[in-house]
Amino acid sequence: MKNKSSRIGLDPGTSRIVVARRVEGEYQCQSHLNAFVAVPLTQMAARTLKKEGVLHMEQGAELLVYGNESERFADLFHLEARRPMRGGVLNPGEPEGIPLIRRILEALGAGGDEPRRVCFSVPASPLGEESTVTFHEAALKELLAELGHEARAINEGLAVIYSELEDSNYTGIGISFGGGLCNVCLAYLSAPLLSFSISKAGDFIDSSAAAVTNELATRVRIVKESSFGFNGHFAEKIQQALGIYYMDMIQAVVDGLHNAFSNALNVPKLGRAIPIVLSGGSALASGFRERFEKALADRPLPIPISEVRLAAEPLSATAKGALVAALAEM
Ligand SMILES: Nc1ncnc2c1ncn2[C@@H]1O[C@H](COP(=O)(O)OP(=O)(O)OP(=O)(O)O)[C@@H](O)[C@H]1O
Ligand SMILES: [Mg+2]
Repeated sequence: MKNKSSRIGLDPGTSRIVVARRVEGEYQCQSHLNAFVAVPLTQMAARTLKKEGVLHMEQGAELLVYGNESERFADLFHLEARRPMRGGVLNPGEPEGIPLIRRILEALGAGGDEPRRVCFSVPASPLGEESTVTFHEAALKELLAELGHEARAINEGLAVIYSELEDSNYTGIGISFGGGLCNVCLAYLSAPLLSFSISKAGDFIDSSAAAVTNELATRVRIVKESSFGFNGHFAEKIQQALGIYYMDMIQAVVDGLHNAFSNALNVPKLGRAIPIVLSGGSALASGFRERFEKALADRPLPIPISEVRLAAEPLSATAKGALVAALAEM
């Protein structure tokens, strides 16, 4: 396993699974939605899906369509997509979760055909809460071992720092605003000093905005991803609700940072101002960085911040950082 190409960075996210690898000196990322829908099994449907190259598996009297195509099928058949993960960890209410994640890994070229060294991201525990992260991490590790891989976990916020903060020698704060969680990590010279997660993220924004507008969460998500921005006017009710819950999420992260630093002993003396890097799909909304910066300016942290910047590729920064960690183990 000396070969660098046999190493991969894996980000098993609530919303998407991303695999990063290094090919001829370049980072390459591939992803699939971490979701599936069940449609009735007929031989006709099975043949057609196969012909069209739609990822699917037979399960009793049903066909499970998974990965990127699941969204279109959910929309066409007015079905709610099922999710192997929820709130950043394996979904306890979804018995097909692990088998589906295994299928998606195969589709991303990280199945059992070749043993690899895998570094995979796991969330931090929520601030002050009992956590299910331990089980999640162990179950994923077991799955990867079954596929023949040698796997170890990396904290998601730290992976963002590995991906984006080489220029500050991996010193700074990395935040991933994902689907199930926001993950925060502060590192000094690549060593994590503190990390935590916040349970308000993209899914929370969707379901909260859906509840107050009497819409389906999937519909709200489509509106959010295609047209929401902080610079726009909130003429429509959905846009207005999205803006409100987006700010709620941002405030929860800023409050979480204050909470983490609330004990003076936790305030590290770093001797220099440090950068904050924002990543994850929820950071893609236009004007997001500016909103976050303003929320920090309104409630400054007890440590000096040099800049607030957006990750180069917010959807794949975690996977890339996990790969950087895997490659560093040479
Ligand atoms: N253009 C966009 N504008 C706003 N939100 C977006 C956009 N694209 C994706 N999102 C949102 O980003 C979230 C998914 O982000 P990401 O892929 O980083 O999450 P994840 O890593 O799968 O989840 P987690 O880390 O919480 O387990 C979803 O809520 C999705 O709706
Ligand atoms: Mg994530």
